[in-house]
Amino acid sequence: MAPFTIRPVSSSPAQIIMLCNLLIETVASGGSVSFMHPLELQEADAFWSAALNSATQGERTILGAFDGDRLAGTVSLVLVQTPNQPHRAEISKLMTSVDYRGQGVATLLMQAAETLAREHGRTHLMLDTASDSNAVSLYEKLGFQRAGEIPDFALNPFGELTSTIFFWKSLQ
Ligand SMILES: CC(C)(COP(=O)(O)OP(=O)(O)OC[C@H]1O[C@@H](n2cnc3c(N)ncnc32)[C@H](O)[C@@H]1OP(=O)(O)O)[C@@H](O)C(=O)NCCC(=O)NCCS
Repeated sequence: MAPFTIRPVSSSPAQIIMLCNLLIETVASGGSVSFMHPLELQEADAFWSAALNSATQGERTILGAFDGDRLAGTVSLVLVQTPNQPHRAEISKLMTSVDYRGQGVATLLMQAAETLAREHGRTHLMLDTASDSNAVSLYEKLGFQRAGEIPDFALNPFGELTSTIFFWKSLQ
């Protein structure tokens, strides 16, 4: 297993391109991460540029798992901004590059996101994922509880309706 380093992704052009390529590749391989296949570079760039801007505002952290300079995976910790939920954060856009899957990258990213959430005083995590995603067993292994499943919640990247499972975890 490569010695992965987990750190926030910067908004340098090189790192934005790696985020874009990772998102495009994830969608092309069937990952349900809000986008349809084929995902154009421009659309991926618009998404990550907005997300990195939100990170600059302190609303989220985009973590990367790096193998040297190469981005192997990413996850975002989104700090809920509503005044009545200062204890809550959401996990989104967990993706591991196809080349690096099955090497513990997503597990490392999720553990780092939990640590970061605690550092921000966020003790309640929420996330959702397509019911047929490999991530379901990962989240259960990490102690997330199923809140429920909604049928026909979203289209997969190839246009078929899929159900989505919502998960939560208390860090207290
Ligand atoms: C889900 C995903 C992030 C897992 O990434 P990964 O780095 O390969 O995951 P890890 O190596 O840390 O594996 C952790 C656990 O995930 C589950 N898992 C990973 N790959 C799996 C597979 N092909 N089949 C079944 N379970 C799998 C297993 O429970 C695994 O634990 P184990 O190794 O003890 O069996 C990756 O497959 C991916 O990017 N998928 C597309 C995007 C997506 O669905 N994201 C999540 C929803 S937002």
